[in-house]
Amino acid sequence: MNIVEVKLGSRSYDVVIDAGLLACAGDRLAPLSRGRRMTIVADENVAPHLATLRASMDAVGVASDAIVLPAGEKSKSWATLEALCDRLLDLGIERGDHVIALGGGVIGDLVGFACSILKRGCGFVQIPTTLLAQVDSSVGGKTGINARAGKNLIGAFHQPALVLIDPDVLDTLPPRQVRAGYAEVVKYGLIDDPDFFAWCEANGAKLLAGDPAAREYAITHSVAAKARIVGEDEYETKGRRALLNLGHTFGHALEAEAGFSDRLLHGEAVAAGCALAFGFSAAHGLCSAEDAVRVGAHWQESGLPDGLSSAGITADGAALVEHMRHDKKASGGRIPFLLTHGIGQTYLDKNVDLSDVEAFLDAQRRP
Ligand code: GLY
Repeated sequence: MNIVEVKLGSRSYDVVIDAGLLACAGDRLAPLSRGRRMTIVADENVAPHLATLRASMDAVGVASDAIVLPAGEKSKSWATLEALCDRLLDLGIERGDHVIALGGGVIGDLVGFACSILKRGCGFVQIPTTLLAQVDSSVGGKTGINARAGKNLIGAFHQPALVLIDPDVLDTLPPRQVRAGYAEVVKYGLIDDPDFFAWCEANGAKLLAGDPAAREYAITHSVAAKARIVGEDEYETKGRRALLNLGHTFGHALEAEAGFSDRLLHGEAVAAGCALAFGFSAAHGLCSAEDAVRVGAHWQESGLPDGLSSAGITADGAALVEHMRHDKKASGGRIPFLLTHGIGQTYLDKNVDLSDVEAFLDAQRRP
């Protein structure tokens, strides 16, 4: 078992990572129950995990209610948020209660946001069931829903009280989803940890094949990296947390072009976006061409897109830059880019000329 503490003063919390943890999660949840019923919000894809979780709570005398929502991005809506808040209020949720979010990033973001506004803020616990949610979205307190104008535009910072990660739940996750989550694992190496990127090169295939030791090591290492960065810059105001957006500005444009659909999963867009960030940096003499090639090669070995064509994107630079203009990180008409001086040397550049980005993207298009 590994425990990583997210150090945020009075809002500090533990992330517990352990194979088989779901079956004994009740032990960890009982102290948060205050002798009351606890509510679990899950999506319909995780029914077997919901049964395991409820049994573990029953075993320690914690009664539970379950709310099951449709799976998928559509649940991150005002309508679902309203219905969820009403149901939680009907169940008598109090400010001191902790709602349990069991599922991937959609459930975590939605439940976290509901808990940030219910009774002006109640507690919640994250039990992420996708690799992407385990290594990124369940840790750090970003919560929210989508708006007509774009993804994640309505939200709040609201930290969970506890995160429980059982790597074994990934056994039943579709391989494509595991690969997409793996992009966020590798991202931590690309940001500021070249040794971890080298570990990924050597062990990524084992991890993707479900090797338990590789999986637990990568999750723990990723969570520790995220906890460190969030601890330094919880509200993304000091330039540190923004590093976690490596690959996201390019990736966001690709996702938007794909209509935020299953054509291109978020993690796949992040992989292609990281490759483009390295390619752009290399093209401008900021990092070596060898490092950009190394990143692309690792995505190819991992079955992830390494650029526009492998991401299935045919749009030109102008269309992709237009998507970037709607990025929520835009400020004063400028878009901050995460660029790099090499593997493990990501930095924030607020002065990138969009005409350079457009020309670079046009040059990436293959006939
Ligand atoms: N997923 C990026 C962050 O939590 O800041």
